[in-house]
Amino acid sequence: MEPWLGNGLLLSSGDKWKKDRRLLTPAFHFQILGDFFEVFHRNADILVEQIINRLTDSEEIDIFPMMSRCTLDIISEAAMGIKVNTQTESDSEYIKSIDRVQEMTRGRFYSVLGLLPDWIYFSLTPSGRELGKHIQTLHSFTMNVITGIYRSSVQIKFDVPTISSSILTFVCSINAGKRKPFLDLLLETAKRATELSESDILSQVDTFMFAGHDTTSVALTWFLYCIATHPEEQERVYEELLECFGDSDRRCTLEDLPHLKYLECCMKESIRLYPSVANFRRHISEQVQLGDFTLPVGASVSVQVYALHRNEELFPDPLSFKPERFQKEQSIGRHPFAFIPFSAGPRNCIGQKYAVYEEKAILIALLRKFRFSIDKRHLPVKETHGIIMKPAGGMPLLITLR
Ligand code: HEM
Repeated sequence: MEPWLGNGLLLSSGDKWKKDRRLLTPAFHFQILGDFFEVFHRNADILVEQIINRLTDSEEIDIFPMMSRCTLDIISEAAMGIKVNTQTESDSEYIKSIDRVQEMTRGRFYSVLGLLPDWIYFSLTPSGRELGKHIQTLHSFTMNVITGIYRSSVQIKFDVPTISSSILTFVCSINAGKRKPFLDLLLETAKRATELSESDILSQVDTFMFAGHDTTSVALTWFLYCIATHPEEQERVYEELLECFGDSDRRCTLEDLPHLKYLECCMKESIRLYPSVANFRRHISEQVQLGDFTLPVGASVSVQVYALHRNEELFPDPLSFKPERFQKEQSIGRHPFAFIPFSAGPRNCIGQKYAVYEEKAILIALLRKFRFSIDKRHLPVKETHGIIMKPAGGMPLLITLR
């Protein structure tokens, strides 16, 4: 993944990772996240509108690409401060390329092509050349996101192949005083010191654009699948929403969220069954004793979140959708690492709270407006086990207005 995500937070290690994590953590502070609600709401409203428009043609809609566009627009605006409007404007090349890059990167990993050094693979093999083009599309998109801040602030056309330090300085000064999305923090640091190179900034933007939208859109999609196949649970969530909002159309606020406990249980149960990141790896740098097994230095360990979440010793009747298992009383005594959709420990997901708030804002808007079900001929919807666990062949749901 390195040719695509560079030395961004997801892939870096050691002192660089520590320094970057410390630098970026304030961008996900609780109080800052509250400010993002307005962006979540506005984009959720566009999503609702798009669904209503599509309903005139058919009740069956593949909601997965719609979720991808919505979360991509949100991460671009909330974290980077720029509107890319993929929900309303044309097909997104970025989304197409991001799927292909994941598929091809994983394909390379499990084939002999993985043994070739990057420079041979990318210049001499047909798949390397194709992958290189898709990575280029993604890098151009993120470059546009960065230079777009400049464009939207001074309203002149601006096109540069690389970002220069003077631009960074300028962007910092024009954004001073506003709330601090993630990109502003990076740019400010670049201005204060020369700690961050331009390629560092691009790697972080690529990392956050990917990690911040694909995971969340998949989680939303599997959630809707779960409740579409469990109408009773769906009605219970709706009743909880009615209790909280009555028949008003006021938007949800941070203060509403603690009252929506059943919604939260359903979210946890759906991501237990369908974790967006179904496995992740660790390189063993110090020998580890794990029960009777000794993990030697240099080994690569794959943590199988999908299997862990479906282990019947931890979750009895593991394949059934049972949101109540996440109610307080039923969670007592469960090992804290039995449920790890966002990983755990110091390398856990930095965007976890942001993702949960975003999902709640979108789901509340959708569930107040629509009822979801699915035609039996699509069941069960299969998973593709790539870098992110997506539904194979999309998610065609039957949607009706409430
Ligand atoms: C439902 C949504 C999400 C899920 C399930 C999820 C899951 C995860 C998991 C399992 C990891 C650990 C990966 C590993 O160790 O290889 C991780 C790391 C990470 N996530 Fe998320 N994530 C989500 C949303 C987000 C969002 C919204 C952002 C950014 C806005 C984000 C940014 C990151 C970053 C930068 C890392 C690397 C952190 C580090 O190593 O210090 N994620 N995520």
